[in-house]
Amino acid sequence: MATLHPNAAAPPPNEPTSTQNPPSKMTLSLGHLPKKQDIKGPWPRTPSRVDPNNPPWPAYRGYHEYSFAHATMGVRLPTILGKAIEDAMKTLNDESSEEYVVDLLACIERMDGLMTDLSGNAKLRPIIDDGEADVALWNKAIAKYFQGKDFMNAPWLFAEAYKYRRLRECFSVSKHWRDYDVFFRQKCDTFSRSADAVFELSMRFAEPFKHSDNLSDAEKLEAERLMFLELTQICLWGNSTDLSLLINMTEEQIKSLQSTGGEHLAATEKNILGNHLPQLWETVKELRSKTGGRIDFVLDNAGFELYCDCVYADFLIQSGLAKQIRFHGKRYPWFVSDVTKKDWEWLLNTMVYGYLFPKATEQERESLRRMGVRWKQYEKEGKWVYEQHPFWCTGYTFWELHGEAPDLFLHLSRSDLVIFKGDLNHRKLTYDCAAPASTPFDVAIGPMANAAGAPKVCSMRTIKSDVVVGLESDEVAEKLDNEEPGWKISGKYAVVLLSEGRPGEKVRFA
Ligand code: F6P
Ligand code: MG
Repeated sequence: MATLHPNAAAPPPNEPTSTQNPPSKMTLSLGHLPKKQDIKGPWPRTPSRVDPNNPPWPAYRGYHEYSFAHATMGVRLPTILGKAIEDAMKTLNDESSEEYVVDLLACIERMDGLMTDLSGNAKLRPIIDDGEADVALWNKAIAKYFQGKDFMNAPWLFAEAYKYRRLRECFSVSKHWRDYDVFFRQKCDTFSRSADAVFELSMRFAEPFKHSDNLSDAEKLEAERLMFLELTQICLWGNSTDLSLLINMTEEQIKSLQSTGGEHLAATEKNILGNHLPQLWETVKELRSKTGGRIDFVLDNAGFELYCDCVYADFLIQSGLAKQIRFHGKRYPWFVSDVTKKDWEWLLNTMVYGYLFPKATEQERESLRRMGVRWKQYEKEGKWVYEQHPFWCTGYTFWELHGEAPDLFLHLSRSDLVIFKGDLNHRKLTYDCAAPASTPFDVAIGPMANAAGAPKVCSMRTIKSDVVVGLESDEVAEKLDNEEPGWKISGKYAVVLLSEGRPGEKVRFA
């Protein structure tokens, strides 16, 4: 017997039924029809049919209630925008010049307009030409793939990124507030509440790292391997403190997320569900012998995560595993906590000159200062380079990177290893779609693994949204689905996945 009206509920067992009422559900017997077949969907789409509105596997969209897209588009984004408006109001109240006040008020009115569009599920309109280098990229995507789409039925990734671009527009068309960052206060504040973990690392790494004299070469290599693995985990778990998820975190919550002790790290390695750490070490170890030894970090969050990235990058330089590190940040405020140039400069300067941690001892303060001085020196010597390409603040996934930003693709193809930090970068690498969890990383990232010149790509991500790939089997994910609902958004689990790269075809420049 098949039920044809799944929404019509049968009366509760003890409720009297009236013969005058129509039957609450109608059922037809379909016993003589063929059995339902297990029809395989057209997934993955053939590459020529893939486009930003049609990912290789089904997209997540805001109206999908089963996906984190739904809560994000319907609740989290309006909350984040509301807090951003509060921040701008606070600044407004501190401002004295009438010209600046009036100009900021207009920005706030535009934010209110964005709030109306977001909560009223408006259609995605083109971005106003505000002189940003990404306007053409945005409007091409909207015109080509998202005409008539709204916040809820466009793919989640695009709609969410679009909201941050519209937020940028609220300020970029102003006279005096073009570069205002509504998230800056939050970013600084969270770092200032991370004292324990910050000093845990600075007290260990203030002095340049060196091996004890009596070690053999093999022992030195083993010591380096162990340090590399621990620091990789520190860099990885630094990603769990992104501010878009942890609004109003207490100091205790921050501490537990940032625990950096050895025992803690051994325990957390179990939570790395797709774990290519050994392959990553083999890759990095090879670099020392190469002429280039260039590693790129496509950064995620400012503050504590950036600090962990820098400690890691410092070790890679000091140990000679890399000769140059290139950091890629965002050109404007993005997904609440992402690194901008201002955040980068703030971190280094607060380490060297700031008094951010009132309870710190003299030694702790000095350890932080020394590390900051060394990092600034790396910048002066060109060992560390900070960059910000417009492509990073678009709604395109990285499957489109070589097509939409060929200059950036060529630039990355000269790197020996490109490390993508965080959840959003992972979503962009994998087209943010419902690929089976056992999909190999190289398949999930498409052109970033198989296009000619694709560099080796590593994704270091704590899992904070639906897409999960690179696991040994689908069963691992299915078991967690059954036993731990919410495991995909808790940040408790992670992946460290490495692609093969196409080194044979890498374009090398002198
Ligand atoms: O809003 C959801 C999201 O885009 C998820 O990707 C993640 O939960 C968060 O925002 C950003 O995380 P991350 O800073 O690690 O990219
Ligand atoms: Mg982020």
